[in-house]
Amino acid sequence: MPSTASLEKLVYIKINSFVGVFHVNKMPLNYDVDIYSQLDNPWDSIVRFLNITLREMGWSNGDQEEVVMDVGCGPGRLTSEFILRIFPNLKKIIALDAESNMIEKARCLHPHPKIEYDVANFEDRSLIELWNGKITKFISVHCFNRMQDQKGAFQRVYDLLPPNGEAGFVFLLHNGYYDALQYLAKDLKWCSYIPFDIEDCIPKSHAKGYTSFHYKKMLEGIGFEIRHCQQVQNVTTFLSDELYTDFLYSVCELTPYIPNDVKKDFKKDLLHYTLKQNGRNDDGTPVDRTTTLELVQTKSRGIHHQYAESSLFGFLAKTECPCSRAHGQLSLTSRVPTGLSGPHVGMVWML
Ligand SMILES: C[S@@+](CC[C@H](N)C(=O)[O-])C[C@H]1O[C@@H](n2cnc3c(N)ncnc32)[C@H](O)[C@@H]1O
Repeated sequence: MPSTASLEKLVYIKINSFVGVFHVNKMPLNYDVDIYSQLDNPWDSIVRFLNITLREMGWSNGDQEEVVMDVGCGPGRLTSEFILRIFPNLKKIIALDAESNMIEKARCLHPHPKIEYDVANFEDRSLIELWNGKITKFISVHCFNRMQDQKGAFQRVYDLLPPNGEAGFVFLLHNGYYDALQYLAKDLKWCSYIPFDIEDCIPKSHAKGYTSFHYKKMLEGIGFEIRHCQQVQNVTTFLSDELYTDFLYSVCELTPYIPNDVKKDFKKDLLHYTLKQNGRNDDGTPVDRTTTLELVQTKSRGIHHQYAESSLFGFLAKTECPCSRAHGQLSLTSRVPTGLSGPHVGMVWML
């Protein structure tokens, strides 16, 4: 019989065959793991970060045996096909996800003798601290936007690393989808189905308009030295409304609470409100616009020193300036890497 405390801590809600899990200190999450893993193609910018940026930072140098932690590993494709290959001298990867269905999928689709997949909510310190000081490289892709207490989560990363250990992140700062959730929560058709405060689903960076400067200051305050900090605008064209709707629906936090008989109508409104923010191309195809942040940071030895003004800082100042358009903007268009297919046919980087 679970104790009252554990009941308070963990409430399972099972509706329409989806399972949503609420923890104290965890955002409401929903992933339809089957749809998610079918659409599981990393963006160009993620591939670039893993294959180019991290290697340029010396992550592949291989002179020390690496113990890597990947938090929010999802169905494991990124872990096994990209992250694993960065490290020629790998001892093991501890790949964690808060959702047990993601870990089951990862163990089934992407097993590897050097990858240990485990269910763990990174917001729960007690599940993580056994690795304190033992993780030489920490990585997390598209997950830290899901942390309710981001500063606490970054502090846990600091505690996991030994001096000179490094961490790399990519996570979402803004997307019109989160405005769509707020519209849906106010819409009389849908508000009665939503059993939680919609604000609990909105990343603080989106709600408060945080940019890279906010994170740089936070991380330096914890004691990290920033090696790379870059805001990237990802513009992704989906080939049809149906594909974009399926993608949104597969990750939408409200999906588990919408009864089957009104699902079609809900999907229509989800797309409508999202496109109100994200827009369409001239040819009518739907567009997803996500601002992400890329970070690479080192746990300094001893007392952390102040971030020196450098060319990187100059670059950041340019990206952050509200009138960056007036200062000029570099746009790169890139194609989906060979061997990857999927909806990400268009990508613009605004530096
Ligand atoms: C968008 S998926 C990204 C999966 C994978 N990293 C990728 O990029 O393909 C985000 C994952 O983070 C997990 N997640 C969210 N909050 C988490 C937390 N507090 N602790 C651990 N995992 C979490 C979700 O369950 C989900 O599988």
